[in-house]
Amino acid sequence: MKKIDSVAAFRALRSGLNGQSVGFVPTMGALHIGHASLIDESVRCSDVTVLSIYINPTQFDNANDLAKYPETLAEDLELAEKLGVDYVFMPTYQQMYPDNFSYQVEETKLSHQLCGAHREGHFTGVLTVVMKLLNIVKPDRAYFGEKDYQQFELIKGMVEALFVDVEIVGCPTVRENDGLAFSSRNLNLNVNERKLAPKLHAALVSGLSDEEVTLELNQLGFVVDYIETISGRRFAAAQLGKVRLIDNVLRGEHEQ
Ligand code: PAJ
Repeated sequence: MKKIDSVAAFRALRSGLNGQSVGFVPTMGALHIGHASLIDESVRCSDVTVLSIYINPTQFDNANDLAKYPETLAEDLELAEKLGVDYVFMPTYQQMYPDNFSYQVEETKLSHQLCGAHREGHFTGVLTVVMKLLNIVKPDRAYFGEKDYQQFELIKGMVEALFVDVEIVGCPTVRENDGLAFSSRNLNLNVNERKLAPKLHAALVSGLSDEEVTLELNQLGFVVDYIETISGRRFAAAQLGKVRLIDNVLRGEHEQ
């Protein structure tokens, strides 16, 4: 497994991969089983797998959230190698933003709903960095988790709208045995918060209405940002202590 930290070095390497299929898994590190499922899928379907680890500052609307974002680089590299990643791209801010973020990719509808209504500029940061990464890596396929369903939809929409020549592949949400979706941010939950956290998924799959779920979670000690059902999918975001959790389930799942 090779580590690359400059755009120029990656581009030089990429031009030598012509003729091989390239799968790409963009991440912000602190890798867990959810990330591993995306990497597995890429390794299974492509000749070469590229993983990026880059904590993208432009998608954080809160400096404290950025400062506290977990970093476990040594473990990440060990896991990536074990899973069969060929190249890890780990750029700096200077490499990714030579324009200092003066050029941005903005979506004007979906990006203002759900998480976008609560995190100013978040999806513009996500779309901009993903566009840059896709242009550097030039993958045949790029893998994204349904855990961040709104992000997945926006990225799919962006590549369609801007004619980016890549297949965006969605992968199912991977959960702990108690239903909590794996997330890098779970590392910041204290013992009591970790015990409470699975109630978010449990409430989402209950037969309760969005309003009832909001009430129940707030009573349990969450601070709910939103519980909202759109086109048969129920979306949730809630603060638990200092950690913001998001999740979503299909309507079929919450009618059982
Ligand atoms: P990050 O939160 O590190 O997630 C990287 C990818 O892993 C995303 O596509 C995310 O949806 C997926 N993922 C996270 N938890 C998952 C789970 N429990 N099951 C399945 N997939 C899961 O999302 C980002 O980074 C960033 O916004 C990024 C796209 C890298 C742009 O900076």
